[in-house]
This record gives sequence, C-alpha cells and structure tokens, in this order.
Amino acid sequence: MELLGDFLVIGSGVAGLRAAISLAEHGEVIILTKAHPSESNTGYAQGGIAAAVGPDDSPELHARDTIAAGDGLCVPEAVDVLVHEGRKYVQELIDWGAEFERMPNGQPSLTREGAHSVRRVLHAQDATGRAIGRILWSRVASHKRIRILDDALATDLIMHGHKCLGATYMTTAGDRGTVKATHTLLATGGAGQVYRETTNPAIATGDGIAMAALAGARIVDIEFVQFHPTVLNVKGSPRFLLSEALRGEGARLTNQGGEAFMSRYEAAGDLASRDLVARAMVAESELTRAPVYLTMEHLDPIQVHERFPTIAAACRRAGLDLATDRIPVSPAAHYLMGGVETDLDGRTSIPGLLAAGEVACTGVHGANRLASNSLLEGLVFGARAAEAMMYPPAPGSLPERTTEEWPLSRGTGEAFPSASEVRELMWRSVGLFRDEGGLSGAVVQLNRWSEAVTRPPRPRQSELEFRRIRSLVTVGLLIARAAMRRKESRGCHFRTDFPVHNDPLWKRHVSDILT
Ligand code: FAD
Ligand code: SIN
Repeated sequence: MELLGDFLVIGSGVAGLRAAISLAEHGEVIILTKAHPSESNTGYAQGGIAAAVGPDDSPELHARDTIAAGDGLCVPEAVDVLVHEGRKYVQELIDWGAEFERMPNGQPSLTREGAHSVRRVLHAQDATGRAIGRILWSRVASHKRIRILDDALATDLIMHGHKCLGATYMTTAGDRGTVKATHTLLATGGAGQVYRETTNPAIATGDGIAMAALAGARIVDIEFVQFHPTVLNVKGSPRFLLSEALRGEGARLTNQGGEAFMSRYEAAGDLASRDLVARAMVAESELTRAPVYLTMEHLDPIQVHERFPTIAAACRRAGLDLATDRIPVSPAAHYLMGGVETDLDGRTSIPGLLAAGEVACTGVHGANRLASNSLLEGLVFGARAAEAMMYPPAPGSLPERTTEEWPLSRGTGEAFPSASEVRELMWRSVGLFRDEGGLSGAVVQLNRWSEAVTRPPRPRQSELEFRRIRSLVTVGLLIARAAMRRKESRGCHFRTDFPVHNDPLWKRHVSDILT
C-alpha cells in the first residue's frame, strides 16, 4: 500500500501519541506502530512522572536535581525546557482526565525516587505509564485526521538525497508499503533489548536509532545506558522491574545477612542515583558471594499491597510476597540516554526527520537520567516536535561539536548472528562495568556482524527477525564504539580501567555519523 500524509509518526508511546494529538489539528497524520498500539515502554512505566508541582518544589530545584544526576553532561537549555514546560503538559494530562493519586485535600500525592531532593513524582499506583497511555490513546483513536497502522514495522527511511520523505514498512502478515509525508517523526523508544537482561519489552530494539543512523543522521551520547538496580531476579521468572518508588516509600536493599548495606557505599543510601546503587549492589554481591535483596518487611503489608498492586502481582507469580518476603534483585538495562541527536524542537541533522522521546537525544539527561523524567520528556518534546512540524522541513540547529564519521563495514562471509548472541555479548562486554579489552573485542565482533546484516535476508530467513537483528547489531555497535572511545567514567558509563571523570578531555559530547 502507498500512503500519503502530511505527517508520519513512527511509534505509539507517550512521545508519538502526544505529538500526533497536536499534529492532527494541522493535517493528516499517519501512525505506524510495530505491535499493538499500547505495546511500548510507556505502557510498562511504573514509578510515575516527575513535575515540580509540590509546595516545597520549583522548576529550579527540579533542574538542579536533573543536572546533578546527569553528571556534568546535561544540556542546560534542554533541562530548562523540560522542567518549565513539564508542569504545563502534566496539567494538560490532568485536564484530559489522567487520574493521578491525590491526597485528601485534592492535591496530587507525590512519591519520591532516587536522587530527587523532594517528593516530586505524580503516579497512578504503580502503573503510571498505562494510565497516561490510555488518556493519550483515547484522544488519538477518536481523531478523524489520524490513521493508525498497527502491526506495521517501519523498516527504512525513504531518502531523497539528504532529505527524509517518509518510511517503508511491512506488516506482521508480510505485506509491504510506503508512507510518504512532508515530515517524519521517529518516536520509536529505546533499545533495552540490545542487552540480555532488560526491563524493556520486546518492541524496544532501537529500530529508530538504527534507521536514522543508516540514513546518515547524527547519533550522540549513545554510550550512556542506564541500568536499573532493582529488577526481579528469580530463575524462570521474567525480569520484572521493581520500581524505585518502592525505595521512595521505605523499601531497603539488604545483603544475605540482612544488613541494609547501601549507606556503606553512598551517603544518600538506598536513594542514591541509579548508577551508584546498581554498582554498589554488584560490589556487595561479590563481597558476600550472595544475592542482594529488596525488603519491605518493616512496612505495613496492607499498605504495601495497596500501593503497589502490579509489582505485588508479579512477585506473586514468582512465588514471593512483596510485603513479607525478601525479594532477590539485580540490575538490568533500562534506558538509553543517547540517541538520534536533535535540537530542542526535535529536528535532527536530516531535513524532514524529527525525533522525540527515548529515541532522541536533546542532552536533557546528560550521562544519567533522573528517575521519572522520561515520561515527562516524551510529553514535552513530543509536543515541541509537533510544533516544529508545522514549518517547512529544515535540519535542526545542532551544536557544533566533535563529529566522528564511521565507515560501515560492507564485507562478506560473516555468519548472521542470532539475537541472543548479540544480547549476550552486549551484556558481558558493554554492560554495567566496561574495560578496553571487553569493549574492543565487542567492537570487532559487532563490526563483523554488521557486515552480515547489510546483506539481504537469506531465502528462508524471516524478514521480521532479520530486521530485529539488524537493529540490535547496529545499535550495539554504536554503543560499543562510543563506550570504547570515552576513556573515563561518567554517569552510567563506568570503565574499570578509567574509573574517574576526566573533565579536561571528556566533559563533552561526541556525535557519530555512519557513512
Ligand atoms: P515507547 O513508549 O517505548 O514507544 C515506542 C513506540 O515505537 C512503540 O509503540 C513501539 O511499538 C514503536 N516502534 C518501535 N520501533 C518501531 C518500528 N520499527 N516501526 C513501528 N513502530 C515502532 N519513565 C518514567 O519517566 N517514569 C517511570 O515510572 C518509568 N518506568 C519505567 C518502567 C519500565 C518497566 C520501563 C521499561 C521504562 C520505564 N520508564 C519510566 C521509561 C519510559 O517508560 C520510557 O523511556 C518512555 O515511555 C519512552 O517513551 P517513547 O514514547 O519514547 O517510547
Ligand atoms: C521506576 O519506577 O523505578 C522507573 C522509573 C523510571 O525509569 O524513571
């Protein structure tokens, strides 16, 4: 099928849906989404959405916490936009019917998460993303000017010279088509599936980053992958996220002997930023040669079950009681700070191509994202990208910064990898702890695989699987190469061979272009 629209939106998470709502006021919108429209990282978000709405809070304080977590690499202008405009877009969600929990006086009930200096997180129990997605979806689904193609995987961007004119897609039934549009918005989310252990659902394979990179777009800060510390670790059970809000409401991390060990590692204890907590947990586990646990045994079990019903149900499925058992936890890949480089209006280096949400990198999160800033980012920058799409296509006003060009390998002969080979390699060599030996080995292997994925699929190979692996390899290679280049530790990027900051050399962003 060949479709023509004013605006193409790829992805139906918070960023894509929020953008589509604004775009539909100005033209015909086509949304391509690769699975059921509600299947997205957004739909799984638990803890909540941060906004400076509390009586003891302000956008300036929210900015300060965001910048502190970002460890020297946040782009201050992007943070400024997020914290100031964030309040407006959260209020808009409430006006549209989002039911965040409230206190008896009617004010939003705010929870706390790591590295926030005050309670700042609006939430709908422990399933905030689902509540937000529902509200946005109800406005999109009923809109006459929005056409939604679900189970439609965008496969490549349509390029004319250096300009983006839309995308090709294929459906799960194998039908192929094109969507041509004046503007294309990538809202394809993150890439947690690049790693063996992840909180992300199966859709999060980094397709948008891969498609943009293969079309020549600038990619930035992609070495910064956030590993969430507390993920259920029970053999045979899915790696279900145990929200940071649990610790915000009093849960503690304990070792095998029952000691709450975090204060030995970090002054902020259990509520230190995610990168610090994740690394401390691994250190403690190695020290004690035993798992670490999340425990709520000291809290009121009825309140625990009422406040966290989704998490309690996941623990129950694994044979555990969230309120009374100690729950084995370990870190897993959760969020990608880097991505397709954009300006504050979502414009990328390619005219006609915009990006918003987790696929994009405005620099708002720096080297480490503050908890619950991502749903907010999707709303704010999704809406801003939509505004930019009202104007003729133009490249973003991206900062002048070091840009490296990487020639893509186009050899022959290397065997095509399986998804689990890629994910295992990334987990082992490009994970929470990195060093030159592991990274250089990973880069060599990923380079070889990138040769295999540039050839067309073999006759009996499923094209959907081929596309999935092409994304994993492309994004994996981008992450591994950027991680090898950054010879320091900062935020979520930890090099055991360069364990501290090197500000004179590395307090900067580097953009990559595949050629
Ligand atoms: P997504 O919501 O991931 O949406 C991406 C969309 O793109 C999906 O519809 C997908 O199907 C589609 N897509 C992808 N590739 C293609 C393709 N090739 N063709 C067509 N469609 C495609 N953040 C917070 O702020 N607060 C939280 O409490 C929180 N909790 C989280 C809990 C979990 C378990 C996870 C995984 C993440 C959590 N996050 C949280 C992070 C946050 O949910 C995401 O960063 C955010 O929702 C991303 O929104 P998005 O719109 O950019 O992408
Ligand atoms: C969580 O609930 O711990 C996840 C929050 C986030 O990723 O911001």
